[in-house]
Amino acid sequence: MAKKTIKDLNVQDKTVLVRVDFNVPFQDGKITDDNRIVQALDTIKYLIDQDSKVVLFSHLGKVKTEEDKAKNNLEPVAKRLSELLGQEVKFSPETRGEKLEQLVEELAAGEVLLVQNTRYEDIDGKKESGNDPELGKYWASLGDVFVNDAFGTAHRAHASNVGIASHLDSGVGFLIEKELKYIGGAVDNPERPFVAILGGAKVSDKINVITNLLDKADKIIIGGGMAYTFLKAQGKEVGKSLMEEDRIPVAKEIIEKAGDKLVLPVDVVIADDFAPDANTEIVSVDDIPADWEGLDCGPKTVEQFKEVLQDAKTVVWNGPMGVFEMEAFAKGTIGVCEAIAELEDANTIVGGGDSAAAVAQLGYEDKFTHISTGGGASLQYLEGKELPGIEAIADK
Ligand code: 3PG
Repeated sequence: MAKKTIKDLNVQDKTVLVRVDFNVPFQDGKITDDNRIVQALDTIKYLIDQDSKVVLFSHLGKVKTEEDKAKNNLEPVAKRLSELLGQEVKFSPETRGEKLEQLVEELAAGEVLLVQNTRYEDIDGKKESGNDPELGKYWASLGDVFVNDAFGTAHRAHASNVGIASHLDSGVGFLIEKELKYIGGAVDNPERPFVAILGGAKVSDKINVITNLLDKADKIIIGGGMAYTFLKAQGKEVGKSLMEEDRIPVAKEIIEKAGDKLVLPVDVVIADDFAPDANTEIVSVDDIPADWEGLDCGPKTVEQFKEVLQDAKTVVWNGPMGVFEMEAFAKGTIGVCEAIAELEDANTIVGGGDSAAAVAQLGYEDKFTHISTGGGASLQYLEGKELPGIEAIADK
């Protein structure tokens, strides 16, 4: 790759600042999915082996008020990381100041320090999220070299990634390298047939992805809430289903341009309420009643999607096929997940966010070639756009 990687940097015995994405989900004070921490281990272990003094930075949630601070305290992540590494991870409750500087100063070779949530700096004027130049410079002054391994945050230009990178020699870590290899490889150099599966609630979130993939994929399967805008664009009635009226013209353009590349649902599970215990029916997409809403793909659609997928050699999936969080509307997402999982000889990539959560919830993590740790970042990458967090890294 054109950017330096961790292997291109002299990290031996150095104080290495590392931006990781430890923005993990919490429930009742407990981490409910530690995948992002697990995925950062290769880089951290490599640095420990190189006798680096490792200083980790991450954000957690959004911090606008003092209550947000308490809710988004990163300290439990230090504990989980200690368990995963099998060694103590020190924690700095401060994001700047003498105590932090002393903790960095006292680090011995191979020791790891996690700094409190970088977005604590947002309380006083969005210093982290606004990439305040003084803050990036200050953090950079704490170390000798910078590694960015926060793929999930790479679509943000914040002080803790872009800011620090502009002051130090820098490289991407193993996780970012892996993400670019798998997602970039699938999109830019796919083994064919290449099938993209796009779902989720809104067309507006995915228009640029669809447009970018139209030229690259052999088939594009559309499911989830966004399918109803396409169905409406075909002149069908969609009742109370999710639909973005202002996106109908662009949906029409996509349908025209895509021809038979685009695969839309033929039947759907409709409900009389957006509720787990709503009354449901399976109907053709031509028969959605005015006061019902489509919440999942129907069985004929799942079969059709499976047929399209059966010869695929590259699959990129982003966005669930229905409201999979409710059991009554999970079959479309499960069906697609199973169909991809059964492919024996294919490169299968899940593009983060909700679809990655669906794969985890269904227990199919081992069946995919790669599950991205990036939600917004993987979408932006699939749109063919540059990611500022990676652009800021030194060229080889
Ligand atoms: C994510 O979860 O997508 C990343 O950690 C970025 O978080 P953000 O959307 O709050 O910037």
